Amino acid sequence: MQQFQQILVLLFPLIFFSLIISITEVSAVGEWTPIKDIKDPHVVEIAKFAVDEYNKIGNAGLKLTTVVSGETQVVSGTNYRLILKATNKTATKTYRTIVWEDAFKNKKLTSFEPFLG
Ligand SMILES: *[C@@H]1O[C@H](CO)[C@@H](O)[C@H](O)[C@H]1NC(C)=O
Repeated sequence: MQQFQQILVLLFPLIFFSLIISITEVSAVGEWTPIKDIKDPHVVEIAKFAVDEYNKIGNAGLKLTTVVSGETQVVSGTNYRLILKATNKTATKTYRTIVWEDAFKNKKLTSFEPFLG
């Protein structure tokens, strides 16, 4: 019995810490990381793609003005969540968009909506 308790005392920290490690590994995926260089040509390309795709769907006739800020999230590929300004010639508005891109640079517009604030 005492031997059993000793084994438990030894095993418990092992199980406990391996649980903690697996939990932190899971939560590390899906974290949004700020994009440091929003003028990066690739980031601008993603923003242009978002506006183009939105124009196809909504026939909005928007043109990208600037990328305000952005974050990336590693998934199976990368999610880009960008705040951008776009104009339709009469008005400039701020939008928030999410574009997914895989390792082969295939892109998909996930969301595009007016952003307030
Ligand atoms: C541009 O956007 C503004 C504000 O949303 C809207 O009132 C206007 O009708 C739009 N103009 C064109 C040409 O689509």
